Amino acid sequence: MTFYVTTPIYYANSLPHLGHLYTMIVADTIARSKRQKGIETYFLTGTDEHGINIERAAQKAGRTPKEQADYVVSYYKKMTAAFGLDTAHGGYDIFMRTTEPFHYQGVSELWRRCAKAKTPKGNEAIYKGHYEGWFCAACAEYKTEDEYRKPATEGAPPTCLIHDTELDRISEDSYFFRLSDYGEALLAIYENQPDFVRPDSRRNEVMSFVRGGLQDLAISRLKTSVSWGVPVPDDPDHTMYVWFDALINYITAIGFGNEERQKAVGFEKFWPALHLVGKDILRFHAVYWPAFLLAGGVQLPKAIVAHGMWLDPNGRKMSKTLGNTIELDVLEKHFPVDAIRYFCLREMVFGQDGRFGYEGLIDRTNSDLANGLGNLSSRTLKMISLYCGGRIPTRHISEDKILLAKRSGVDTDETTVSGFIELAREQYLQQFESLNFSRALEVAWSVVARIDGIISDAKPWNLAKDDEQKQTLAAVLYRSAEALRWLSVLLFPVMPQASQEIWTQLGLSGSPGSIEPSQLTWGQLEEAQAIGEVKPIFPRIDKNKIMSEINNETEPTAARATVADAVEGAPGKTETQAPPPTQHATEADAVGVTSFIEIGDFAKVDLRVGQVLSAERIPKADKLLLLKIDVGEEQPRQVLAGIAEYYEPEKLIDRKVVVVANLKPRKLRGYESQGMVVAASIGEEGRPVIATFTEEVPNGARLK
Ligand code: MSP
Repeated sequence: MTFYVTTPIYYANSLPHLGHLYTMIVADTIARSKRQKGIETYFLTGTDEHGINIERAAQKAGRTPKEQADYVVSYYKKMTAAFGLDTAHGGYDIFMRTTEPFHYQGVSELWRRCAKAKTPKGNEAIYKGHYEGWFCAACAEYKTEDEYRKPATEGAPPTCLIHDTELDRISEDSYFFRLSDYGEALLAIYENQPDFVRPDSRRNEVMSFVRGGLQDLAISRLKTSVSWGVPVPDDPDHTMYVWFDALINYITAIGFGNEERQKAVGFEKFWPALHLVGKDILRFHAVYWPAFLLAGGVQLPKAIVAHGMWLDPNGRKMSKTLGNTIELDVLEKHFPVDAIRYFCLREMVFGQDGRFGYEGLIDRTNSDLANGLGNLSSRTLKMISLYCGGRIPTRHISEDKILLAKRSGVDTDETTVSGFIELAREQYLQQFESLNFSRALEVAWSVVARIDGIISDAKPWNLAKDDEQKQTLAAVLYRSAEALRWLSVLLFPVMPQASQEIWTQLGLSGSPGSIEPSQLTWGQLEEAQAIGEVKPIFPRIDKNKIMSEINNETEPTAARATVADAVEGAPGKTETQAPPPTQHATEADAVGVTSFIEIGDFAKVDLRVGQVLSAERIPKADKLLLLKIDVGEEQPRQVLAGIAEYYEPEKLIDRKVVVVANLKPRKLRGYESQGMVVAASIGEEGRPVIATFTEEVPNGARLK
């Protein structure tokens, strides 16, 4: 039996944050739980390295696209090692990169197969046509009218609803994938395999998206527009659409289209995979990917499981601009890896959005780990040291001491506790199998609470004072130690390090990672065995101290120089987007961004007092005025303003205005606009009212 689990491969334009780490943690947890059951498992993560977005990020950072990808990959590798997710720590089996030559081979093979294929309706699956429309580089996605925001000024490009960045206009010859012919075939799959897209809510969204009708998909760009990618086989003037290339990584990694990989890993051996993805990229995985595979004659994945997005503690999208992202270097510095893993799995109800804040992480670590599991472990082991000479005590209470034990309030029937933990094990594994990690962990913590209760009721410190109660004391401590052994096996996939620690401190050899949880039998902890050295597993975190350190490190946002800023200005993901919460299929979950920004964010906007020197209409542009504005610089700025319907140009001369002076220049109707005039927008039609001053102000004065 084998098992194959994948995370998305992450864009190599910018550095990872908590959101990226999260999917890896989930995949790693699943992989460890499979390995623990003796199932040969392959775990893939990696980077998506092609496309215009990476090309632009590279250009901005003064690197070649490959250098850019190498740079981001080196950071990913550093982070996966620090968080115990790499191969050396028992994590991923491959860090897949789409720039690998074997990937090119496999991708070309699938393209060729699709190019030869007929759709379920008997048409050619790939055909050449002309694409005319809008494209978001950050999403790497073509956008239809209901997926973008129309521009405020006429002639300007629309903006992406997710990233708020301008879309690219595309008008060029392109290869198309005839997705429109696959609707029925896809619906049949979703219907016949209810587990194919999970959870159910996501499956429903996907089905209604497909029922709404599928449009053919442009799957290539002209090489002259995008050169950084896999060339289309037999037509090198075209570069494959990055999503076509990226999705195929899941099969090229294990040997599709390449002999060497096939020998080293084995496509037949591991395929089909369970794909873990954020709900932001569900459509690509649940609609496009199966359609490509159907066309290529390749077996479909086992399942596509979409999780929710991490929001900040106030429920806002995480974004660099809001300064509310959770950075990996901060996490790494202040928190134990297992506490982060536990928090991620405990706090997010799988499939739904969750909230992540440093304070919440500290609170959970302290309550569930330091005071909960950690305390149970250390008090049990300390008492075994103290009262039982550091050896696992005897579990049985002899007949003659039973009454005495009962009198001290201890349940002498051991099966009460063993029955409880056996039932908890069943529930835990069931929830785990359904990927309800949060529920599973609640079940595990019911065991912690139960054992804690047994100890508090029995008061071993009192029993120790009475020679007659030695057996009672021993039985109580045995139960607690045995429960800890079970917990370390059950929790191993979630908290590998802490589980190993507890295991070793119990005096056990080997790893809880090699014990199959369903094989645990009560009473197998050997009596008289010496325990190991007792050390705290989860030291309590001093909330005030750590929060003030974190706040010092993370504020103000704009001034903070972390490694994450090293790919400064990488379009899309780095600056304006952390968790893109919604694509078409998940619109219902769109999370509104409320309006808090850090002072540092405001400081990024260079607002200056300007004076209008001249104003004129632009031929054939009813809404635009061409202004020359003195903002205290050597030369006046040329600024286009969409106010022509409301202001007579002559009346604007000499008027003091507020200008956004550091807005990236852009061309409108052939004129470069070097800034923006600030105006209020009134009513439904958005009537502009220019902001001005009632007192004397010099040109160029900065607004703060
Ligand atoms: N390159 C594509 C995926 C191609 S897969 C063939 C891509 N990359 S990405 O860098 O944008 O990563 C998106 C994924 O990162 C999400 O689907 C999710 O797995 C993870 N997350 C990014 N931000 C997240 C949150 N805020 N919360 C949870 N997961 C998030 O899309």
